[in-house]
Amino acid sequence: DTPPPTQPPRGGVRAPARAAITAPHLRTDRWWLAPAVTAAGLFAFVVYSTWRAFANAHYYAAPYVSPFYSPCLAENCRTMHMGPNADLFGSWWAISPAIIILIFPLGFRLTCYYYRKAYYRSFWASPPACAVAEPHGKYTGETRFPLILQNIHRYFFYAALLVAGVLTYDTVLAFRDQHYRWGHMGLGTVVFLVNIVLIWAYTISCHSCRHIVGGKLKHFSKHPVRYRAWQYVGRLNARHMQLAWASLVSVALADFYVYLVASGAFDDPRFF
Ligand code: FES
Repeated sequence: DTPPPTQPPRGGVRAPARAAITAPHLRTDRWWLAPAVTAAGLFAFVVYSTWRAFANAHYYAAPYVSPFYSPCLAENCRTMHMGPNADLFGSWWAISPAIIILIFPLGFRLTCYYYRKAYYRSFWASPPACAVAEPHGKYTGETRFPLILQNIHRYFFYAALLVAGVLTYDTVLAFRDQHYRWGHMGLGTVVFLVNIVLIWAYTISCHSCRHIVGGKLKHFSKHPVRYRAWQYVGRLNARHMQLAWASLVSVALADFYVYLVASGAFDDPRFF
């Protein structure tokens, strides 16, 4: 007697209404390469940023403050004469000041439409690529807790605007020298300038921003200014993935630059 065929799971892509294809996928290209590279890149950033956020050291080298630690709200920052920072938390706060504010840029990126696609594919394999079946038996999308919380992305966008504003202020302060005199420029100033341009480009190219600028309008002809702004944001939005990666790398490099100078491993070359 031949044993009865084992029944495949009945959910997800094995549900009765789906095509009865037994092979996991029919793709012959290297479809796994993109999610693997994405996973490696994101993992590297998570490891680096975790180390730096908890290090609680080498985040200020006059006139530069690390973007991971800005605005710096704990007592130990105030004593370092950092420009836009305030002692909101006092001396009882002994934990790294980065922990207080990183939730905002981190939440913005975690709930970003592009990063969602990236980590759903690369970490959760849900699905790992187009036309490749996901291993999970059930798919509920973002309709339930916790993924339904992804909808708060718009509010993280507002917070990200504030953070970008503070980082812009930090970049202006980078035009001082070590003694806080204006009109100077070092390699760090250039690093900060490149970083803030990429941070703003990534923030403005956000899908929520595009909707805030041009959404819910019946007639663009009656709102020419918003229409122009929507076109501009739309052009940036088409590059959102590239900007997401470029700004991720630039913010890590800006932090690493401050780390090198603050730890004495490197002297900030001054151009004038
Ligand atoms: Fe990516 Fe808003 S969609 S930052």
